[in-house]
Amino acid sequence: MKLVHLSLTDFRGYAQLELPLPEGHHLLLGPNGSGKTNLLEAIHILGTGGSMRASRDQVLARHGTNSWRVAGRFEDGRDGRSLRADVVWESSSKRIRVDKEAARASDLLAAIKVVSFAPSDVELVRESGKVRRRFLDLIGCQLSKDYLQQLREYQRAIRQRNETLTRSFVYQRGRTGAQLAREPWTDRVVEIGADLFLRRRDLVARLGDTLRDLTEGAFREHGPVEVSYKPAVRWEGDEVRDAFLRALEESRDKDEALGYTTCGPHTDDLTLELDERELRRFGSLGQQQLTAMFLKLSQADLVRTSIGMTPILLVDEMFAVLDRRAAEQFLARVEGEGQIFLATAQEGWLGELRDRHFQVHRVPEDVSTIS
Ligand SMILES: Nc1ncnc2c1ncn2[C@@H]1O[C@H](COP(=O)(O)OP(=O)(O)OP(=O)(O)O)[C@@H](O)[C@H]1O
Ligand SMILES: [Mg+2]
Repeated sequence: MKLVHLSLTDFRGYAQLELPLPEGHHLLLGPNGSGKTNLLEAIHILGTGGSMRASRDQVLARHGTNSWRVAGRFEDGRDGRSLRADVVWESSSKRIRVDKEAARASDLLAAIKVVSFAPSDVELVRESGKVRRRFLDLIGCQLSKDYLQQLREYQRAIRQRNETLTRSFVYQRGRTGAQLAREPWTDRVVEIGADLFLRRRDLVARLGDTLRDLTEGAFREHGPVEVSYKPAVRWEGDEVRDAFLRALEESRDKDEALGYTTCGPHTDDLTLELDERELRRFGSLGQQQLTAMFLKLSQADLVRTSIGMTPILLVDEMFAVLDRRAAEQFLARVEGEGQIFLATAQEGWLGELRDRHFQVHRVPEDVSTIS
């Protein structure tokens, strides 16, 4: 899948942009603040429905405006089919279209595959479980169309269950009344949550195999990076539902005291280890950066091997955090695969990337006019 044309309206700093993208890889080169990441962000939205850095759609609207639009035309390298995706945000809501038909984020995730790389990916290793869960869920959504739906149903069920744990609800209904009202939501949470546990376990196992292969020999004298799933609930064999239900019962007093559900897939985590030591606590910054990059490469590999689609890679300023050897290895690994958009402010890479047949777009000069 390749992006062949990108259009923006009132998106970030761009009032109006029509950018044709001829066959090949693309280098977005320009000074700090010139709008390179904004372009990667727009492409990310076409592939996932959302930004990789902003959690609110409103901030994407160009200052002084109240809506934005991102549209792209893609071509499938295998059969030459083309696809149009269009995401519009206005009046506080987002409208997605694929080939002019009303669509959802899950349709974008199914049709267009993007994998983003940025220095901030190091958060995958250093920050809380929330960041790793989001990463895992994005892969889940890219690999299977019903994952997003399941995730949303789980979130809805947890919200409803949490409602019965709030102080005002318990005050209105009494403790027993609130417990009674909670039961159907507990059943629902267990039903969907158990499935999510199993899916994530499989996903992490596959991610782990890929990550191990990619990182073997990559950390000098160290072994490969191991990723393991740390589900909120432990279970034996196929008794995941019983184990989850038991865990919810055991955490009842705590949940009631805190006013929300403290145990479930929404508190899952992953651990990343190098030579059996947790990278989060013991890894050097460089090792953490490299691990984050390899996690993203594993994502791209999984998408390619599982569903046979080569993702579009959005690579933002990675050369600022990789040493020259790692940067060259990275390029050598990815350049033969899908389409790459690489953003950098560092002119020093221009010659090398030209040699590697990247087309150069100076930002803002080459992208600021309507063509
Ligand atoms: N909603 C918005 N409306 C108008 N301009 C915006 C909006 N959001 C961001 N910008 C502008 O976009 C520019 C930043 O764009 P971007 O992050 O793409 O830069 P960059 O080229 O990636 O820079 P760097 O090399 O520093 O990463 C800034 O000038 C910022 O003021
Ligand atoms: Mg940037």
